[in-house]
Amino acid sequence: MARFKQRDIISIRHFNKEELLYILDLSKHMEGYNHTDILKGKMLASLFFEPSTRTRLSFESAMNRLGGTVIGFAEPGASSTAKGESLSDSVKIIDGYCDIIVLRHYLEGSARLAADVAGVPVINAGDGANQHPTQTFLDLYTIRKTKGTLEGITVGFLGDLKYGRTVHSLAYALSHFSTEMYFISPSGLRMPKDCLEELRQRKVTCHETESLLGISKKLDVIYCTRIQKERFADPVEFEKVRGVYRLSKAQLEEMGTKDDLKILHPLPRVDEMDESLDGTDFAVYFHQARNGIPVRKALLASVLGAIE
Ligand code: CP
Repeated sequence: MARFKQRDIISIRHFNKEELLYILDLSKHMEGYNHTDILKGKMLASLFFEPSTRTRLSFESAMNRLGGTVIGFAEPGASSTAKGESLSDSVKIIDGYCDIIVLRHYLEGSARLAADVAGVPVINAGDGANQHPTQTFLDLYTIRKTKGTLEGITVGFLGDLKYGRTVHSLAYALSHFSTEMYFISPSGLRMPKDCLEELRQRKVTCHETESLLGISKKLDVIYCTRIQKERFADPVEFEKVRGVYRLSKAQLEEMGTKDDLKILHPLPRVDEMDESLDGTDFAVYFHQARNGIPVRKALLASVLGAIE
């Protein structure tokens, strides 16, 4: 689809349903599509101002597997940021060294700022608590692959819904697919009001609750998230909600679920999802992380114009 060529990927809100489905179909095509040279001669700058395992390494792996090359840093302390260089100046310089930038930064709006000053396309790999659009593409891909459809399913989002950028992005994307949504969180970590209002305007049936009790049998998907210590300004507030959810096989058996429930998690997990779930048919989170490769291949190839 020519519409992706040289396009910034900043927010999932910028993509319509047809475009989301195009990337999911292209991702399917990219499964097992290794060792080609469609991105030969192209260079990715991978700029990570916050820690990452999955996003950074799957982008870099995808670029390498399509024949491209990668420069960048995983630790901003090793860049001139440590000497006080602004993000805007860094991006203006790096723009001249590469064909595409993948940026993770702790400030909301940083990817938009980078895209405004860069001549090359910028992909948002997570900007503070705001958006993580490429995670959303792979979450949608995983749900469609494991449930067979995105239409008409009931999804429970569990955990840190206030700061959870993956939740904000995914809930919006699923609003294209007549999804019913349950938002399960402690009262201090509820889904932001503006996100809920937007979903309701888009005719999504939304429910808020603090527990899975009484709703577990309704869910086709549980999207579990970590309570993110690093996003709390006050450590006392974090201590109030630390360990509030500990999803386990025994707990799900006791509460009862649909047989074909699937549990996703963007990872990393801390203590909110017990290892007893790992061997069950519910658990798709490791598979989900692996889907980062075909999905990011699809995004890089289409933005760099190697596939139309
Ligand atoms: N899901 C995700 O963004 O993981 P990383 O923080 O390891 O990139």
